[in-house]
Amino acid sequence: KKVVLAYSGGLDTSIILRWLQEEYGCEVVTFTADLGQGEELEPARRKAEAMGAKAVYVEDLREEFVCDFVFPMFRANAVYEGLYLLGTSIARPLISKRLVEIAAAEGADAIAHGATGKGNDQVRFELAAYALDPDIKVVAPWREWDLTSRTRLIDFAEKHQIPIAKDKRGEAPFSVDANLLHTSSEGKALEDPAREAEAHVFQRTVAPEDAPDRPEYVEIGFERGDAASVDGEALSPAALLARLNELGGRNGIGRLDLVEGRFVGMKSRGIYETPGGTVLLAAHRGIEQITLDRGEAHLKDELMPRYAELIYNGFWFSPEREMLQAAIDRSQRHVTGTVRLKLYKGSADVVGRWSDASLYSEAHVTFEDDAGAYDQKDAQGFIQLNALRLKLLAARARRLGSN
Ligand code: ARG
Ligand code: SIN
Repeated sequence: KKVVLAYSGGLDTSIILRWLQEEYGCEVVTFTADLGQGEELEPARRKAEAMGAKAVYVEDLREEFVCDFVFPMFRANAVYEGLYLLGTSIARPLISKRLVEIAAAEGADAIAHGATGKGNDQVRFELAAYALDPDIKVVAPWREWDLTSRTRLIDFAEKHQIPIAKDKRGEAPFSVDANLLHTSSEGKALEDPAREAEAHVFQRTVAPEDAPDRPEYVEIGFERGDAASVDGEALSPAALLARLNELGGRNGIGRLDLVEGRFVGMKSRGIYETPGGTVLLAAHRGIEQITLDRGEAHLKDELMPRYAELIYNGFWFSPEREMLQAAIDRSQRHVTGTVRLKLYKGSADVVGRWSDASLYSEAHVTFEDDAGAYDQKDAQGFIQLNALRLKLLAARARRLGSN
């Protein structure tokens, strides 16, 4: 038996690696991805080798992550429950895709992950995997083993000579997931939603009150719905998002404290930092303001919550997500132009936008003489016909003395 494990190099997935070898009796291939979490990956490679992994995969997936997952999602302006920019949700399908591909290449019949049985991540990893390989087996140790307390985990690690960093001996203060789009922190010290998160929770943004007292301006260029340049400099998707993370992070942008509804039914409280993504979302909406027709824009906004929920719930690889994506992508063909934003103490405000494909017509909207572009008399009939139903309703109400 052979299994491909999503391996971070941390204590928990190292314990899983050994547990799969010892208790499950299988060969383990590890897969570690650089999704921009900002950690060195060579230590994970060495650790996996030292622990007897049959093969060790370490891959830089940053460009694929932003180009094929983050950018398509941002075309939709996707936010879950009004606020969450889906930074963890959108990374899971890519990890699963590579796990399944590596399993095929290595002749493995199973994949394994370190998500618990209580969360969304298990659902996302597994739905994506089954969508790509209907025969794949999944091992989720957290749902199976009896290492249910920190003491038992540490005992297991010690018994099997798994090195434990000094600061990992005690209970981890909270669970963190990071990539180029966001850092999420949840659990343990953050579990009481009535209590404000302490300053040390935040890892990639300064507090808005500590951000510079002078605003910083940035211009983002879009091509067909995707950001392509910053201040006139063309950048690859991953480099662009990294640049926006720096800009947003130092201006205190993109912090979020949210209680959200997990797919498995319970509510959870998370602290999110999405500096670049928050700037990007504002900018994308800014360029859509002048390049999308109202009908296109409003339909997109209606579809958006459905689309966001599909990603949150783990249905990235599903026909309905692809149908929505096709409609969203179709809407983006003229979403080309530039947006100017003002970044200041936690806020990212669009203060200018221009495009060759703009639908904005100053000739029509002007308060000054429009030289015949628009005949104000046309509005009278427009209003009368729209009012007809309302008048009939009002007349009936008057007749019956009630609505
Ligand atoms: N609650 C967020 C989500 O469901 C973040 C999950 C973070 N995952 C983690 N392993 N800490 O997308
Ligand atoms: C986990 O339970 O593994 C993390 C949280 C989540 O998946 O929602």
